[in-house]
This record gives sequence, C-alpha cells and structure tokens, in this order.
Amino acid sequence: MCGIVAYIGAKKARPLLIEGLKRLEYRGYDSAGIGILSDEFGLEVAKSVGRVSHLENRLKELGGFDGSIGLAHTRWATHGGVTEANAHPHRDDKAGICLVHNGIIENHSALRKYLMERGHTFHSETDTEVLAMLIGELYDPENGTDLEAAVQTALREVKGAYAIAVICENEPGVMVCARKGSPLLVGVGNEEFIVASDASAIVAHTTQAFMLDDYNVVKITREGFRTSTVDNVEIMPKVTELEYELEQIELGGFSHFMQKEIFEQPASLRTTLGGRIDHNEGKVVLGGLAQFAKELVKAKRIILTGQGTALHASMIGEYLMEDIAKIPTECEYASEFRYRNPIVEDGTVVIAVSQSGETADTIAALREAKDKGALSVGVVNVVGSSIARETDMGVYLRVGPEIGVASTKAFTGQVTVLTLIALFMGRRRVTSPERCARIMNALDAVPDKIEQILATNDEIRRITERYVERNNWLFLGRGYNYPTAMEGALKLKEISYIHAEGMPAAEMKHGPIALIDEGMPAVFIANKGSQYDKVISNIEEVRSRGGHVIAIATEGDEEIRSVAEEVIYVPGCPEPISPLLTVVPLQLMAYHAAVLRGHDVDKPRNLAKSVTVE
Ligand code: AGP
Ligand code: GLU
Repeated sequence: MCGIVAYIGAKKARPLLIEGLKRLEYRGYDSAGIGILSDEFGLEVAKSVGRVSHLENRLKELGGFDGSIGLAHTRWATHGGVTEANAHPHRDDKAGICLVHNGIIENHSALRKYLMERGHTFHSETDTEVLAMLIGELYDPENGTDLEAAVQTALREVKGAYAIAVICENEPGVMVCARKGSPLLVGVGNEEFIVASDASAIVAHTTQAFMLDDYNVVKITREGFRTSTVDNVEIMPKVTELEYELEQIELGGFSHFMQKEIFEQPASLRTTLGGRIDHNEGKVVLGGLAQFAKELVKAKRIILTGQGTALHASMIGEYLMEDIAKIPTECEYASEFRYRNPIVEDGTVVIAVSQSGETADTIAALREAKDKGALSVGVVNVVGSSIARETDMGVYLRVGPEIGVASTKAFTGQVTVLTLIALFMGRRRVTSPERCARIMNALDAVPDKIEQILATNDEIRRITERYVERNNWLFLGRGYNYPTAMEGALKLKEISYIHAEGMPAAEMKHGPIALIDEGMPAVFIANKGSQYDKVISNIEEVRSRGGHVIAIATEGDEEIRSVAEEVIYVPGCPEPISPLLTVVPLQLMAYHAAVLRGHDVDKPRNLAKSVTVE
C-alpha cells in the first residue's frame, strides 16, 4: 500500500530516497517517482510506471538530481490509472510546490472544480494533484502564508486520508509533512531528518523517531523541526527509540521474505510467548491488559474484527474465547461492522486484530465500537501504529517486521496472542487451572513442533508440484480448523493466483460438492480431534467423486492414508492449539505454488501489505 520517503540534511538525497523506496517496496505499489530540490537545478521531478528499479534507471539517464532535500513515492493507484502522469510527486502551476501523498482526498472533485475556476490547469487524473494545486493557490509568503501555513490551511479544507511530504522551490530549506489516517514516521538524525511511511526506510539512518498523529503537521529544516496541528496549535511529539534491527528486514539467505517469515515462526513465536506464561502461578501475564483485567473478566460479549488474514485469526479467536474464556463472542469483517450500525451493549469488548495496525476498515470498525461504548483491545504487530494508539489496551505480536505481502508469522502471532488473551480471561473466570495449564504447556511446545513441520518442506513441495497446474482448489476443515482452511485458501490465492475456496467441511455438501471432479484438489485439515470421523466422511464424499484429497493429519494416523491421496503430517496437540500447526503446511504449499508458477512471491500483483484506504 504505497509509500513515502523524504529527506532533508547534508547528504545527497537521491541515493538515500531510492534505497528508502526499495525498503518500502514490500508494501505493494504500481509506480514510483522522486522530486529533488537543488540550488543548481531548482526542482527536478522524475517518475516511472512499474518498479523502483525503472525509476533508478531513468535517473541514470537524466543526470542531475543532486540536491540534499527531496521526496519520493511508491503509488498504489486509487484515483486515475497507472500512468506516468498520475505517478507522484505532483506539482502546482504557480508556487513551485512538489508533493507526495498516501491516502485519498475524498472531496477532490469539488476542490478541482474550484481551482479550475481560478485558472489552474491539471495534468493528471489524481486526487493528489488537487492538493498540490490547492497548497500552491494558498501559498502567499508576502502576506504571511508560507509553506507551513499554506499546508495547514489546505488540510483544513480537505476531507479524506493523507500522509504527505511537501517541498517548495521558494523555500529550499524547508519540508512540511502531515498525516491523517495514513501512517508517517519522522526519523531524527544528526542535523538531518528522514520521513517515511514505516521504520524499514528509516532504521539505516537513525533509530530515533516519532510517529505523526492525525491532524499533525511538522515543519522540518536542517536545524530542527516544529510540530503543530492543522490549526497551528504547537505540540511536542515524543521521540522514541525504534525497536527495529536492519537485519530483520534483510533476506538473510532466503529466496523470499515470505519464505524467511514462514521459517522464522519458531523463533517469532518464542518471542511472542516470551515472559507471558507463568507456569509457577499457572497464569498468563499480559502487562498490556493488567489495568483492565476486572473489566475484561466481567465482559458480557466480545467482538473480534479485522480483514483478510487478521480476520481468519479473529475467527479462530471466536472459538478460543467461547471455548476457553466462556464469553459470548462474534467475529466480524471490519468493513461490514463499520457500516451496519451494530448493536454494542454495555459490557462489550472489541478486539481489533491487525498486523500493520493501519488497515483503514479495521480502524474505522474500532472507532465505531468505541463510539458505542465498547472497551477496546488492540492485537497488532507494529508498535505505535494507529490501532495500537487508539485502543484502551493491547498486546503486541512481537513477531518482528513482516515484509512479505502474504501474512504468515503475523497470523500465527495473532492466533497465539488471542489464545493467551483467552487464557488470561478464562483463568480468571471459570476455566480450571488444570485445563489452562494443559493449553499453556501446549503453547510452549508449538515452536518446536513447527520446526518439525518445517523439516518436511521438501515433501510439501513435492505434493504441491503434483497439483500446481490445477486452477481450482478447495480447502476444508471443521471447528478450530475451519478458519485455518479459509486462511490456506487465501494464501494460495494471493500469491499463486490459483482460485481457491475455504469453507467448513460440512458445507461442501450444500453446493460446492458440485465442483468436485477428477481435476479438483481438495485440501482437508484432518488432524485428530472431536470431529475427526466427520472429516473422514467428508473426505470419502470427495474421493467417491474423483476428487484428489490432500490431508493435513496428525502424526501416527495411519487410517488417513487409506482415504487421502497425499498426507502431510503435523505433531499432535490439543484442539485449540491445532491451527498454529496445521496452517504451516498450507503456508508452504502456497509459497511453493507461487514459486513453481513463477510469480513474484513478495510483491504479488494488485496487492498491498497494508490497505490504508477503504
Ligand atoms: C493476508 O496475507 C493479506 N496480506 C491481507 O489479507 C492482510 O491480512 C489484511 O489486509 C489485513 O492486514 P492487517 O493485518 O495489517 O490489518
Ligand atoms: N490517491 C492517490 C493516487 O491515487 C494516492 C494513492 C496512494 O496512496 O499511493 O494517486
């Protein structure tokens, strides 16, 4: 989902901006551009459709671009096609304004009409160009409206979401940035500043940074910065240490970030679990919830909400909360919840689940529930993200930066944290210490068990290769593993572009079984559990119609071999923990299918890592 990098300091801006864009590529984009200001050449802008490397080659052809203040952008088009003219930066036609933007200017049409009536001529189809033109229209330094004031005034007129960086030919030593709804981080270096959409583009230069809040504007010069609101009320941001290591965002010998992150899961889950299970006391320790423990324990209902993979983790959370915490729970698509005027009665707790903490629909659903009086909990990975800041309390995943667009270690991190929260509440409610202890012990054993599954990677690749040419797959599971089947289908779809559908195994008989033919692979999650026999019956129904059955089964289960064409074994565990194991073969199958089909695993077409627009 697009990206911004901006720099002001003593170094040449171009190499630093290009390197920063490359660090943000994982977020997903379709075009890129750069704008640099120098005494010798004034304002120079270059753009290109496609990869950052295309822009880099364009710059080599052009020469120049030697200034030490500049901004760069990767675009994920929302208004206007993927063309060079629509790529950012965008300029105005009067004041030498140059601007990059993440988000959507919702009232762009009315503003464009107003500006055209005042004689401005537009050169793109984008909403962003309207904002650049509006700032230029307002810019009037002779009468006290310098760049900072022009940006503040323009943003008071704007509806929608934005993260912006703006420079101006008439104020070569100034950069103004602002944010509402789309994240923007300001890295504070030694007489230099690097502004970016996330920490991955900053940590190579400084680990001191602050996140802009909604309606914040910051004016940056080489000597320092001033932060205010769009109403010019001065504020003092809190500069903190970024919890980010450069090597965490390097490939480290793997072929793709997704592969690295799948194999990182034993380590990332050890970090997620670290210090959060007290076996002596037989309790889960979640510092982020302690202050509200009483309210949580007395909750009358829980609403879990998210999108995509985070929604699938939330669906598993629904089973966990009702099974372990014994609290009525429902899981909702954030995009649906936010618009259906939901009933939120007293005693309701909303849990917003999100890797990035910036998903627009999830933020909106969280705000809707809070406005209706719900207590809010964030289950997010990115420290200091919008959801982390807007919730009453929260639990970080602590799985480290997830670069691959297809979410893997964040999913197992989310499910692990939701299990911990269920135990945190269940132990304080009606769940026996013995059952809690069993589940806590099983959680502790998960990282080692995932290592055992990863060791079967070659076998999983072989099985995937056998069916990779098939263009339609089914993923089926029951109970805790129905959402896992949904997640397996999403993984395959989003990186191999193979059509796949996940559903409860029993649901197949109510229609989808019509799809079964000799070409259709059906992946069943058939681990030993309370509904094992029912799953076997469903497998038989598929086999009897010529379908190919791939079963994810529990080690030692020989019966499954008589009904499944291929079997991938995972270690045994209590049912509530099983998705953490059964999902790993599904992640690897999707990865191998994408590689075998020759797709860009980490930057799949049309996708963004964090969907910060509706
Ligand atoms: C999952 O692999 C996708 N990347 C996507 O569905 C993602 O889970 C969804 O957009 C939610 O993102 P979030 O966890 O950052 O809120
Ligand atoms: N809405 C703007 C455009 O379509 C910005 C999109 C983005 O966030 O990259 O150009």
